[in-house]
Amino acid sequence: MNARLVVLVSGAGTNLQALLDAARNPGYGATVVAVGADRDGIAALDRARDAGIPTFTLKVRDFETRGAWDDALAAACAAHQPDLIVCAGFMKLVGKGFLARFTGRCLNTHPALLPSFPGMHGVRDALSYGVKITGCTVFLVDEGVDAGPVLAQAAVAVADDDDEATLHERIKVAERALLVDTVGRMAREGWSVSDDRKVTIGR
Ligand code: GRF
Repeated sequence: MNARLVVLVSGAGTNLQALLDAARNPGYGATVVAVGADRDGIAALDRARDAGIPTFTLKVRDFETRGAWDDALAAACAAHQPDLIVCAGFMKLVGKGFLARFTGRCLNTHPALLPSFPGMHGVRDALSYGVKITGCTVFLVDEGVDAGPVLAQAAVAVADDDDEATLHERIKVAERALLVDTVGRMAREGWSVSDDRKVTIGR
């Protein structure tokens, strides 16, 4: 049986596209059933519509409180009965109401090797620090900022002439492959998280 994915997006949606492409293979084990966004006018929503996937957009400013937005986001996701929620370039932190429903089955991708360089500018911060190796991390979302249990990581070498854009583009190539591989394995094989936050995919 295919795992049902709700994918949350805020931008270009290349990670979403990679999941949509992978899910065309019946053996992948997961299907994107809905795409949610926190803003309009983004390429990610066009990609979803082109693929015939239902979308919803919930803007924080349309709600009285951040908590009300968070509850609405959780309800919109739950309406599609997801097995997994995938934040794929979703530029909002989810809150308590959302996590009460989806902790342990909501994952995110970050363009750095966590716990180094969390936050909005992971690529820029790694470059400014002068690291020679950075990469990407797929992790389970918890109440912290890019702080949840690590599912998978991939390394990317920093080139001497990299700027933020060139490095991010190379990281995104690795990130898309890592996300597709991780989501597929979770969907096909299951996963568990130990008390000391180590994740095992497969039985
Ligand atoms: C990814 O690198 C993600 O880690 C970061 O923003 C990028 C989103 O890319 N937060 P896309 O929208 O999937 O193309």
